[in-house]
Amino acid sequence: MSLFVKKSLKELMIQAEDSEHGLKRTLGAGNLVALGIGAIIGAGLFVRTAAAAGQAAGPAVVISFIIAAVGCAFAGLCYAEFASMIPIAGSAYTYAYATMGEFVAWIIGWALVLEYALGAATVSIAWSEYLNNLLGGSIPYEFCHSPMEISATGAHGMVNLPALLILTIITLVLIKGTQESAVVNAIIVFIKVAIVLVFVAVGWKFINPSNYVPFMIPPDAPDVTASNGQVYSYKAIFDHGWGGVLHGAAIVFFAFIGFDAVSTAAQETKNPKRDMPIGILGSLVICTVLYILFSHVLTGVAPYTDFIKEGKEASVAFAIQNYMPGYAWLATLVSVAILAGFSSVILVMLLGQSRVFFSMSNDGLLPKILSDLHPTFRTPYKANLILLVFVGGFAGFIPGNVTGDLTSIGTLFAFVVVCLGIWIMRKANPGLERPFRAPLVPLVPILGMIVCSAMIIALDANTLLVAFAWLLIGLVVYFSYSQRHSLLRNPKKL
Ligand code: ALA
Repeated sequence: MSLFVKKSLKELMIQAEDSEHGLKRTLGAGNLVALGIGAIIGAGLFVRTAAAAGQAAGPAVVISFIIAAVGCAFAGLCYAEFASMIPIAGSAYTYAYATMGEFVAWIIGWALVLEYALGAATVSIAWSEYLNNLLGGSIPYEFCHSPMEISATGAHGMVNLPALLILTIITLVLIKGTQESAVVNAIIVFIKVAIVLVFVAVGWKFINPSNYVPFMIPPDAPDVTASNGQVYSYKAIFDHGWGGVLHGAAIVFFAFIGFDAVSTAAQETKNPKRDMPIGILGSLVICTVLYILFSHVLTGVAPYTDFIKEGKEASVAFAIQNYMPGYAWLATLVSVAILAGFSSVILVMLLGQSRVFFSMSNDGLLPKILSDLHPTFRTPYKANLILLVFVGGFAGFIPGNVTGDLTSIGTLFAFVVVCLGIWIMRKANPGLERPFRAPLVPLVPILGMIVCSAMIIALDANTLLVAFAWLLIGLVVYFSYSQRHSLLRNPKKL
């Protein structure tokens, strides 16, 4: 049987209808937008913005946000078309299975692990930074940093315990069920949006226009030495000027990840055909506006070089504490809100990942244990627990910038394939019912592929190398396990 054996759409729809035996359908359009914003605003905005400005884009990180948003918008339109056509759990993985066949679907599912699992790890690491800031830096360095990090005083990290703590709590919430979590999520989303608006409104008057000059990092910008002795150079092509802005886009792209996680909840949505496009595009638009405002104020308040020195961790609280005199209370408030906000991001990421595992396991590509539902809660609880161990391994022992960039690359890759999938689908099945149609196909998918690929190329070489290694491991697993257990290839196992 060919590597590119496809799932028929009819089969998928039957599976979607069969919700009696699967996940409960409880979510509406409002829940989805909330789920989207809940997943979207998080460490990307409150941590990665500063990293992008400090490492590559400078104050022009605002343009990085626009580039990343454009890539997401193109891909988002494609996601919305797919989500309205194939409203079942599994996101890009499921779409690829129907359009490009099992092998591509596997690769996408494997890339989505980078997105959701490492995304959750990155945000939990950022959570740990803000908790430590809120507690006045009283958590010993060793216990809130990975072994790969070293402090200004020469202390070595050992394990990031707060990151492991928050992951455990969220896993328990997820095991209990998504309906309850959606209510909590809605409250957190409100707090999160409010905090962005308050920071923009208050911070606006502390903007120092000289921080915007030069707007992009010049090629001859002097090296910056961080407090732990690490030296940053801006000489490489993707570390200054427009190259730096593109690199910055790949970094802050993290801040947009999550709108696609909405599509993983399709099987739990009451009216997915109508609600999915609203959920995906609505949350994307709201967040883009907030991000542009926020990054403009952040880089106006503090010089970008601070963000690779003392302001590297908990950067927003740092900017307030150092450049907005009289607003210490705001730093505290922002940190508390951020802690709550990050929790909702972790929740959606872990939810997304367990649902992708659920689908892949249902298809026989991963072991059955990942789709076992809890007898009472009807959640894939074993998948949640296994994920906790896996994600915890990264959160506890790897630095956030490494997991963050890997998350970006996995997601960008998935976006490229989703764009391609829409184009293929229009050619292969032109007559199919499409409750939502992406405009200007193939132009929109092609532009989506170009913008997302450009961001992938701008990421640093080590990230590309690790992502490639991850892909190779995925191929080994596919050919040694998944291909042999695939239900589509071996229907008698059904
Ligand atoms: N977009 C999410 C965040 O920024 C993943 O935390």
